Amino acid sequence: MTVDPTTTPAWERLTDLAAAGTPDLRTAFDEDPARAERLTFDAGDLHVDLSKNLVDDSVLGALVDLARAVGLEERRDAMLAGEHINVTEDRAVLHTALRQPPGAQLEVDGQDAVGDVHAVLQRVYAFAEQVRSGQWRGATGERIRTVVNIGIGGSDLGPVMAYEALKPYRQDGIECRFISNIDPTDAAEKLSGLDPATTLFIVASKTFGTLETLTNARLCRSWLLDGLDQAPGAVARHFVAVSTALDKVEAFGIDPANAFGFWDWVGGRYSVDSAIGTSLVIAIGPERFAEFLAGFHTIDDHFRELPLERNVPALMGLLNIWYVNFLGAQTHAVLPYAQSLHRFAAYLQQLTMESNGKGVRWDGSPVTTDTGEVFWGEPGTNGQHAFYQLIHQGTRLIPCDFIAVANPAYPLQDGDVDVHELFLANFFAQTKALAFGKTADEVRAEGTPEEIVPARVFTGNRPTTSIMAPELSPSVLGQLIALYEHITFTQGVIWGIDSFDQWGVELGKQLAQQITPAVAGDDAAIAQQDPSTRALIDYYRRHRP
Ligand code: F6P
Repeated sequence: MTVDPTTTPAWERLTDLAAAGTPDLRTAFDEDPARAERLTFDAGDLHVDLSKNLVDDSVLGALVDLARAVGLEERRDAMLAGEHINVTEDRAVLHTALRQPPGAQLEVDGQDAVGDVHAVLQRVYAFAEQVRSGQWRGATGERIRTVVNIGIGGSDLGPVMAYEALKPYRQDGIECRFISNIDPTDAAEKLSGLDPATTLFIVASKTFGTLETLTNARLCRSWLLDGLDQAPGAVARHFVAVSTALDKVEAFGIDPANAFGFWDWVGGRYSVDSAIGTSLVIAIGPERFAEFLAGFHTIDDHFRELPLERNVPALMGLLNIWYVNFLGAQTHAVLPYAQSLHRFAAYLQQLTMESNGKGVRWDGSPVTTDTGEVFWGEPGTNGQHAFYQLIHQGTRLIPCDFIAVANPAYPLQDGDVDVHELFLANFFAQTKALAFGKTADEVRAEGTPEEIVPARVFTGNRPTTSIMAPELSPSVLGQLIALYEHITFTQGVIWGIDSFDQWGVELGKQLAQQITPAVAGDDAAIAQQDPSTRALIDYYRRHRP
C-alpha cells in the first residue's frame, strides 16, 4: 500500500509554506541565537550542521509529518528486516546486512544472511592476507605488486573511491588500478608498465554478464597469457572473481576456489562493503576494512533507532525533498573539503541517480512529483575557482553539502601557517558567504563605485549542510557512505519509487548489441538504423583507415 505524498495534509502545508517564502537566514540566526545548536546533530562521528538550510520549525515539522504519512519508518523497518521491497525484481534490499557484526540474527528467504556474509568475509580476508604477505605467488613464483580491479558501475566506483579516500592506510608495495571503461584506452593505459608476473586481476561483476567487464577481463587474460608465454595455470594464479553468478565465473575459466560471492539482495551501487571491496581489503588490510564496515553499521543503527526529528539521514533526505519538490532545485552539489574524497561525487552519482532517477511508482503508476535531482561536485577549494560563481550569484537554487575533517591526512606547514587550517578557513568562509551573503550597503561601505554595486552583491540565503568528522578514517568513510545511502532511501520512499532497480540502463545495452554489426559494416544492420544513427556510423566508417 503506497501513499501518494501529494495527497497528504503535510504536502499541502509544505506547499503553503513554500508559497509564503523561505526563511531569511540572517534574520533566522538573529532571532534565534540557539539556531546553530538546535539544528546540529551528531550521527556516529559525523557532526552535521543543518542550520544553514532554508527551513524553520514549521517546515521541518511538516517534512517529518510527510515522512510519517508515507510510512518512512515502516518502509525502513521492512528494508532492514529483509522484506522484498525491491518490487520490480522481487528482492530483499539488505546492504545493511553486509555490515552487521558476526552473530547478529537475520534470516533472508530462509538463509542466515549475516552468517553467510561473515563466511565470505573470512575468505576475502584470508586471501587478502596472502596477497599482502607475499604468500600468494604468481605463476612464475613472484609476489603480487599490482592488483587490477576490472569492473564498472557499482563494481568499480565504490572500490576506486574508497581506495583513493583511504590512501594513508594503504600497504606500501602493492598498488591497485581500476579498469572500467570499454574504451580500450582504459585497459591500455592501466596495463601500461605492469609486469604480468606480479599482477593480479580481480574481475568484479555482480551479474558476470556486463559487456564492459567481460571484454576487459578477456583483454587482460590475453595480455597476461601473452606476457607469461601461456604459462600453465597462469589464469588460476592471476585471476580471481567477485560475483553473485559463480557458475559464470567458472565458465570464464576462473577457479571457483578463487571466487568470492555475494547475494542478489545487494545492489551493485550498494556493494562496496561486500566482496566487491576485495581490492580495498588488499590495499588497507582486513582490520581497517572491518573498521570501514563498523562505520556503516554505526549509521545503520542511527537510522534505525533515532526518531525522525533527530535522525540525520532522514532529515537530510527530507531537506532534499523540500528543495526539489517545493523550492524547485534541480541539482545538489556535494563539495568535499578533502582531496582524498575526489571521487566521492562520482560515487554518489551512481548511488543517488541510479537509485532515484525513476518515473513510476512501486505500483507501476506514474510518479506524482519530480524525483531524483542531479548530484554533482568536486573537492574544494578547486571548485571555488571553477563553478562556485554560479552557486553564489547564479539564478538557480543549488543546495550544497560541504564535507570536511578536522585532522588532515598530511599535516603540512607553510612557514607559520598550518595549511589545513587555511583549507578549513575556506570551507567555513564559503558556507558563511552562501548563507549570509553581502548586502548592497556592505558593498558600498567598501567604497565600491555605485554602478558596479549590483554585480558585487551576494544575495545569500543559499542553503548548505556542513558535515564534519575528526578525520577521514575507514570508519568515517563507511559512515559517510551509509549516510548517503539512507538519504537516498528516504527520498525514494517519499516519492514512492523503487530505489533499488535500474531498468533505465537496459535499453542502451540492448541497442548497443544490435548496433555492433552495423558499426562493423553489416549492410542489413546499417539499413535498420534511423537516419541520424546511420549517418553517424557512416561518418565513423569513412574516417576509419
Ligand atoms: O548497468 C548498470 C549496472 O547494472 C549497475 O547497476 C551495476 O553497478 C553495473 O551495471 C555493473 O554491473 P555488474 O556488477 O553486474 O557487472
